[in-house]
Amino acid sequence: MIRRHFHDLSVEARQAIAGKVGPVHAARTAGGGMNSGIAAFIDTDHGPVFVKGIPTDHPQAPAQRREAAINPHLPRACPRLYWHIETAGWDLLGYEVLPGRHADYTPGSADLPLVATAITELQRTTAPPDIPIKAAEQRWAAYAPPGTAALFAGDTLLHTDLAPHNVLVNARAHIIDWAWPTRGAAWIDPAILILRLLEAGHRLTEADTFARRFPSWHTAPAEATEAFAAANVAAWEEIARTDAAPWKAEMAGHAVALHAHLRTFPGNK
Ligand SMILES: Nc1ncnc2c1ncn2[C@@H]1O[C@H](COP(=O)(O)OP(=O)(O)O)[C@@H](O)[C@H]1O
Ligand SMILES: [Mg+2]
Repeated sequence: MIRRHFHDLSVEARQAIAGKVGPVHAARTAGGGMNSGIAAFIDTDHGPVFVKGIPTDHPQAPAQRREAAINPHLPRACPRLYWHIETAGWDLLGYEVLPGRHADYTPGSADLPLVATAITELQRTTAPPDIPIKAAEQRWAAYAPPGTAALFAGDTLLHTDLAPHNVLVNARAHIIDWAWPTRGAAWIDPAILILRLLEAGHRLTEADTFARRFPSWHTAPAEATEAFAAANVAAWEEIARTDAAPWKAEMAGHAVALHAHLRTFPGNK
């Protein structure tokens, strides 16, 4: 979806925002993400606010509603949601602004230990039972080898999109962009992180070693991680088929490599 600017919002939508924050003195469109219709920093009398907005009839609008619903249940390092408005065809979220930059996942980056700390904190978070988020065994059911999706079940709150542009770093790392909160086995987020480390230039053994600092990955049943790796191959290959963006084909390649690695070293865990 194409990024639009704050001033492209209709007058009604901007009035609804002013009803929450007062006059908007300036607006600047955020770089980095890819999905939101509007992603902008606004200056208000009460300080800065990050506004994320999507048309209510857009296929990703339900993801934004999930993002709002999960916010009160996130670890404290995640940005606080101030308000959620649905008005004039827009679903709008107003967030606390976290000063920081996107994480650097490249090998040797000083951000990596901070990212590990943030993920460790998340690994200890149980998915709230009363929020309608996806279950891992359902989310990847269509992609998993027959009969294996049940191995993905668990009660940990998973982010599932741990790309570096979804982690903001200052004195610590903050995990943002909760469009895909999922309830499942704790080792799933480390598995997803491995693919993003490969994307950033790590070798497979380095990325696997990095992930093993998470006890969930270290102790995960080989049968389960191999099935999940296979599901990721199918999911990323489908994504790459429907969108020719080169990074998507590269992610599919990393998924194939991780699957091969886990098949070659099944006893490694
Ligand atoms: N609370 C926040 N504070 C500061 N910057 C943010 C905040 N939330 C998002 N951003 C910035 O906006 C970008 C897009 O937001 P994100 O929630 O990732 O939406 P998208 O769905 O477009 O990827 C992020 O990559 C980050 O640079
Ligand atoms: Mg994002």
